[in-house]
This record gives sequence, C-alpha cells and structure tokens, in this order.
Amino acid sequence: VVAFKVGLLGLGTVGTGTVQLLQDRAGRHSLMQELEIYRVGVRSLDKSRAVNLPDGILTTDLQAIVTDPEVEIVIEVLGGLEPARSLIMEAIAHGKHVVTANKAVIARYGNEIFDAANAAGVYVMLEAAVGGGIPVIQPLKQSLGVNRIHAITGIVNGTTNYILTRMQAEGSSFDDVLADAQKLGYAEADPTADVDGLDAGDKIAILASLAYGGRIKLPDVYCEGIRQVSQTDITYAQKLGFTIKLLAIAQRERAGLSGRSVAQQANGLNSPQRERAGLSGRSVAQQANGLNPPLLSVRVHPTLVPESHPLASIHGVYNAILVEAEPLGQVMFFGPGAGAGATASAVVSDILNVAAVLKTGHLETESASLHPLLACTHQDY
Ligand code: HSE
Repeated sequence: VVAFKVGLLGLGTVGTGTVQLLQDRAGRHSLMQELEIYRVGVRSLDKSRAVNLPDGILTTDLQAIVTDPEVEIVIEVLGGLEPARSLIMEAIAHGKHVVTANKAVIARYGNEIFDAANAAGVYVMLEAAVGGGIPVIQPLKQSLGVNRIHAITGIVNGTTNYILTRMQAEGSSFDDVLADAQKLGYAEADPTADVDGLDAGDKIAILASLAYGGRIKLPDVYCEGIRQVSQTDITYAQKLGFTIKLLAIAQRERAGLSGRSVAQQANGLNSPQRERAGLSGRSVAQQANGLNPPLLSVRVHPTLVPESHPLASIHGVYNAILVEAEPLGQVMFFGPGAGAGATASAVVSDILNVAAVLKTGHLETESASLHPLLACTHQDY
C-alpha cells in the first residue's frame, strides 16, 4: 500500500544513497513499505546513474515536482543555495513537507523557511544537515531540550577531519588527501566550503540556533579552515602531546570573563580573518541582548586537542559532537559524518518521522515542534 508520494530533488551522492535505501526495504521500518519515489528531479537526463528507476520518474523540471499535487514530501538534496532555497520555499507554499540535507540554506535562511513552514502547517526536517548520519538534531531539540546547554564542541566536517587524520598519520600532502576525499564523495561540490571551515560554520550556526534559541547570524560565526595547517605544525603538536582538529564551538562564556569573546581572545584583536568573518568587538549574544548579557561565542578553527580528550580519537570521515548540558552533564554523539549511505540514513529517518506523524494524524497537536530552530528556545544563555 502506497500512502506517501515522495519527490526527490537531486540525484548526486546523497540523492543516490537515498534512492538505494528506499529501494532496499527488507528488514527495515515497516512504514518504508508505504513510501513511493514518485518523481526525481535532476539537471540532466543523459547522465548514467548508479540506481535503476522506473521510466518517466526522472525529470529536469524541478519546479513541477514541488508544485505537483500528488507529492506530499519533498526531499531536497541538491546542495548549494539556489535553486535549492527557492524550491524549498515553493514546496512549502504548496503545502509540502520538506526534508533537506542543506546546511548552507538552513544556516542562512532558516528563519524565513521555518516561518513559512509554520504558516503553511508543514514540517521542515534537517537531520542530515549536521553530522551526516548521526542523529543529533532531533536529540538536541527534544531529549536535550530541558537542559541548559553550556557548550557544543564538535568535529562536524568529515572532509577536513579525513584530511587532517591522514596528514598526521602518513605525512601525506594536503592536496593528495583532498583529492581522495572528493573521490570518496565526502567533499562538497566546491571543496572550499569544507577546507575553509564554512561548511562547519553553517553546521555550528544551526546547532547553536537549536541550543540557544535561533539567534545566531552566520556573519557572526568566526570561521578559519585548515589551509594553513602545515606538517611543521603537526610535528610540533604531536611532540607536545596534541592532535590538530578543526573544531566547531558554541560556548556560553563563564561568568567573570571580560567583554571579549573567546574567539577574540584566541585569535587576537585585529585578525584580518576575524574582520572578514564580520565579527565585531561584541559577541552575538551581546548584540542580541543589549548591555550586560551573558556571552555566547560561536566559532570554527583548527585547535590543539590534548591526545587524552575524547575528540582527539575521532579519525577519518567520522564526526563527533560533544554537548555539555545541565543537569545532564557531558554527552557525545559520534558516527559517520559524510558519505552516501550515512547521510541517506538521516534523510530517510526524517521522511519516516514525517510519514509517522501524518499517519497517526497528530500534525495539529504537534504544531509546537514545527519550528525546529525555535523549538527549544533557551531564554537565558
Ligand atoms: N562535505 C561535508 C563534510 C559533507 O565533509 O562533512 C557532509 O555535510
């Protein structure tokens, strides 16, 4: 019995993984029997594909998918800002639920998208946008929602963690390892977003918005990537008992610190990168709250991590997100942070969650959770 018709936008690495997972249902959740891949939007019909789809399913008319009255759930795995953002907005306007893996769009246009989704009474799900296959968005919104979040410290970019791991283990060159990461389907279409910390910046902005109430503006996130990390840095770090990791951090500053953010203290007052990132002398929280607010620092940069720290042992394409919460304490999410199968797992879990809610008819009563970025609004960070 087919109950839910799904329109898929994009058949790249993640889209292909999603189709494969939806076609291989044996032994998985029974609700997967009720999902039909109804249309798949691609840029070209001529390309050879790693998946077999029934005739007539592929189309280059992406707009026809998001406006098709038969389609209930739209999956956006195109990546990039446009046309992804416009198609998401159009899908919402046509009453479709949306599942997206697009951290760049959510980090920049999350408020606009979730406001539209609330108004239309539809879900927008984004588990695949952060941490690849790791379930972290739903736990942060729900199970951890009763906690005050003191800090989120994560390795949230698989490509750079893979590069740093191999540079440290083998002494390999940055360029060689980057080429391998691209071949393995970890890197973004333009690997600049990975290498310069922008992909990690999008992801920590999303996590911080969830944990601290949707107030994080992307230009306020300090982003520094791994291009400057040399074999000399690696050698000295190892001699001193450290490993170098690209960390994404969102942190409430402890009482008693001065008005400078941690990023400022770490990076010096007049760093050109800081200015490029648009960081003013005041932290995001200060700007939001006026004169004497608690401080919040959101940033991405290569960091010396002691070898005994749990994040030091996260190797290769794996991601890990360490959350310090009160009263819970420390909790760490760990798993494959990129790649077709892992990311498809998160995408399809979102589809199932939407289908499950639609099926049990709880959509109205659950409307409070329709706004993922504002669902746990921590008033007092
Ligand atoms: N390019 C991203 C990464 C893919 O390497 O983590 C997953 O978002």
